[in-house]
Amino acid sequence: TPEVRELLLSRIKDVPDYPKPGVTFKDITPLLADPKAFAALTDALVELAVRYGATKIVGLEARGFILAAPVAVQAGLGFVPMRKAGKLPGATLGQAYDLEYGTAEIEVHAEDLAIGDRVMVIDDVLATGGTAEASLSLIRRAGAEVAGVAVLMELSFLPGRARLEPALGGAPLDALIVV
Ligand code: PRP
Ligand code: MG
Repeated sequence: TPEVRELLLSRIKDVPDYPKPGVTFKDITPLLADPKAFAALTDALVELAVRYGATKIVGLEARGFILAAPVAVQAGLGFVPMRKAGKLPGATLGQAYDLEYGTAEIEVHAEDLAIGDRVMVIDDVLATGGTAEASLSLIRRAGAEVAGVAVLMELSFLPGRARLEPALGGAPLDALIVV
């Protein structure tokens, strides 16, 4: 709803010139510190999980974990972490993606996703779309289905949505706030 959107937006702090000059960082810590706002965010994401018919919730390290874990609990679904490379002890699937400079890699425990799973991906921000795109590759490579992607914020001045479009394969991409 517009009221929820307004509440969430009011709790996100613009930090100019962080982490480097010319970049405005979107700080979600005031939102996390406000129990009403955090609960409203969680409720909105749970609503999407239900609409997607999700059977599992994936969170993207690190800020995606914070948002996704309460959604999984509230929706009664399992939580699957996609971690930055080298952090998971078991057999993993890994997917590299491009950063502004160089590349990064995320991994998931292969046994956490399987054929028949309908997976919802949750993260805080969709920027270039590289992180989310890598997560969708991992879901598909594990044999599972993409139920949808939900982010708190979409940065509309970057082409993240367009980049993600082919990987979504018709699945929805929802942003609670577009900035
Ligand atoms: C940030 C943000 C998203 C991602 C979006 O994560 O939390 O996960 O970048 O960017 P993209 O759409 O261009 O891929 P980052 O890895 O910087 O840090 P974090 O570990 O704090 O989440
Ligand atoms: Mg992140």
